[in-house]
Amino acid sequence: MQIAISGATGLVGSSLADALAGAEDEVIRLVRRNPSCRDVLWDPTVDSFDASTLAGCEAVVHLAGENIARGRWTAAKKQRIRESRVHSTRLLAEGLAACEQKPRVLICASAIGFYGNSGERLVDEQSPAGDDFLASVCQDWEVASQPARDAGIRVVNVRIGVVLSDRGGALAKMLTPFRLGLGGRVGSGQQYMSWIALPDLVGVLRHAIGAESLSGPVNAVAPHPVTNAEFTKTLGKVLGRPTLFPMPTVVARTMFGEMADALLLSSTRVSSKELEQSGYTFMYADLDSALRGVIQ
Ligand SMILES: NC(=O)c1ccc[n+]([C@@H]2O[C@H](COP(=O)([O-])OP(=O)(O)OC[C@H]3O[C@@H](n4cnc5c(N)ncnc54)[C@H](OP(=O)(O)O)[C@@H]3O)[C@@H](O)[C@H]2O)c1
Repeated sequence: MQIAISGATGLVGSSLADALAGAEDEVIRLVRRNPSCRDVLWDPTVDSFDASTLAGCEAVVHLAGENIARGRWTAAKKQRIRESRVHSTRLLAEGLAACEQKPRVLICASAIGFYGNSGERLVDEQSPAGDDFLASVCQDWEVASQPARDAGIRVVNVRIGVVLSDRGGALAKMLTPFRLGLGGRVGSGQQYMSWIALPDLVGVLRHAIGAESLSGPVNAVAPHPVTNAEFTKTLGKVLGRPTLFPMPTVVARTMFGEMADALLLSSTRVSSKELEQSGYTFMYADLDSALRGVIQ
């Protein structure tokens, strides 16, 4: 299969590209700079995209977006977080819709931030959106893929949970303090974290490309979300380190500003039922095995 990927230099995109290439699929990377011979150069900030450059691709996986956990959430950063997702998705969806030779499927990243701070309530794909900044970004991000759906392309909006990898993302940031014995729960520790190991997310994206029954929003989270306190305890156990240094809410807010509430203190307990019913089997269904699997 020929599969195009945007954001292919990122944590998820690079792992997906490696896995597809290893399975002898042909990967076409949509890159913003320095294209190599099979890459397609694109500018996600302009007003139109000539998707005929992707002719022959059977699937497009759109993962590009300004990193949300790097740097403080200034007004300009928040605008980049929104625009880099919503505008780029609309650009791609409209371009593919206008294309003579359309792909069969467009897989668009979204995030469990869609549900906002939902406490202990288990949320699924039918649950309403939250009312904070990330929830509004996720709603607009998903709506932006509609032109492709209207043109008959199967569109899957993959609501991704906290991706566990030692190469990047939230876990990689935690590893140094935890290895130094300086780790601990954040705030009350009662907030839920819905996580997914990176190898499983790659598996889910590949599954979504082939699973004709999947369309619209699909949660990409492991079956057992945990509280921050449980996560902290399990990570300490896997690393063989104590976790005696809690980070109080006020410290988290001082250090990380608005991002602390959205990413560290917010509680989201997300169901993986739809994904499992579509036939996906997790490699890492529980946190202990996932951490042991992804931490080298
Ligand atoms: N990692 C997680 O825990 C997590 C959780 C929920 C949702 N997601 C979503 O999954 C997708 C992939 O995540 P990731 O962790 O792989 O992200 P990442 O490592 O930050 O990579 C994202 C890629 O997007 C491109 N990009 C960066 N800034 C951009 C901008 N301003 N405009 C357009 N493109 C930009 C870059 O690729 P190029 O330079 O090659 O264009 C970058 O490598 C993202 O949309 C993210 O929001 C991730």
